[in-house]
Amino acid sequence: MLLTGCKKDPIEVIEANPEEIIAFRYPAGFPATVYPLGEKPINTANFKLGRELFYSTILSSDGMISCATCHAQTHSFADHNIAMSVGVGGAMGTRNAPPIFNMAWQPHFMWDGGVNHLELFSIAPITNPVEMNETMVNVIQKLNTSDYWKNRFKSVYGTNEVTDQQLFVSLTQYMLMIISDGAHYDKVMKGEAIFTTEQQAGYDLFLQKCVACHTEPLFTDFSFRNNGLETVSTDDGRFLITQSESDRGRFKVPTLRNVLLTYPYMHDGRFFTIDQVLEHYNSGVQQHANLDPLLQNGIPLSVDDKKYLKRFLETLNDYQLMGDKLLSEP
Ligand code: HEC
Ligand code: HEC
Repeated sequence: MLLTGCKKDPIEVIEANPEEIIAFRYPAGFPATVYPLGEKPINTANFKLGRELFYSTILSSDGMISCATCHAQTHSFADHNIAMSVGVGGAMGTRNAPPIFNMAWQPHFMWDGGVNHLELFSIAPITNPVEMNETMVNVIQKLNTSDYWKNRFKSVYGTNEVTDQQLFVSLTQYMLMIISDGAHYDKVMKGEAIFTTEQQAGYDLFLQKCVACHTEPLFTDFSFRNNGLETVSTDDGRFLITQSESDRGRFKVPTLRNVLLTYPYMHDGRFFTIDQVLEHYNSGVQQHANLDPLLQNGIPLSVDDKKYLKRFLETLNDYQLMGDKLLSEP
């Protein structure tokens, strides 16, 4: 019998409770956060202000682009499956927009680690000409000349003037709450579910061949490495920050949580499918002065290995995250 037709949308909708006091969640098995939540706990009103700002186009020069334009909840807060994000006036950047979740655990941000504090991050997309193309002075002025926004900030900070620091802190409060720990993988680790035979075979392969860099439970060790991609652009990655020859061509190891939903892949979005990524590790690794020692011989993968690895990677999809109304546009 041929089974066709509607595949059920797997997103698990979680209704938000407007009365809820928002508190940070520390998933079992995750390490300590890098972000100092002890000093700066989540405040419900501030989180909600940050959420509204994240979805607001007031931060862009043409009033058309919000953070969510390139970081969409339906794609685990990555871009809509395009290689390079499109900013104000159709401008294109040079890098693939990474997903935003588990930010509290990240020691540095961007593919080259150019920003090391989440509160300092938002200035980059707001002022980047190929993203929101604004100036901070102008954004703050727009917020201060709007009675609506002035009152929203006043209700959180108690001041009459909106400052850029307030804007950054509020956006940070929202981003900290985007936590991905609801994948099938997490349920298996907690003993609430089991892997199928194929998923288990993929997990075993993953532990042998991938985990050294894509380390559990965040699926990255946050180091900068060269994984043997063919050099096709002038993007020197980590070198741009350190000016050290040994960092040329190194990029931050990306998380693999939700990876099936965040294609295309790599810093420039060069691979559209996970099959291409696996084939890269199997047969495409190129020599490079800074190629990671672990990849000197590539990672030989049989047809079955690739199938099982894919089955395992699918278990990292977090459909609760994508359906969590707490994080959706208010
Ligand atoms: C035009 C598309 C676009 C818009 C709009 C945009 N971003 Fe991004 N975002 C990107 C791209 C591309 C990167 C990767 C930049 C890099 O590595 O050089 C990124 C990276 C990030 C990261 C780092 C994630 C990581 O794992 O390193 C954070 C955090 C982030 N953006 C937050 C925001 C916030 C907050 C806003 C709104 C103020 C925003 N972005 C607006 C495209 C966009
Ligand atoms: C030596 C460290 C290392 C090993 C081992 C490794 N990776 Fe990676 N991986 C990286 C780096 C670094 C990147 C980003 C490279 C870039 O964009 O320039 C990456 C990128 C990826 C991406 C793209 C993710 C995205 O969001 O763009 C996937 C998927 C991936 N690796 C899967 C795997 C799998 C599966 C294995 C095991 C078969 C593996 N990796 C082994 C370092 C490694």
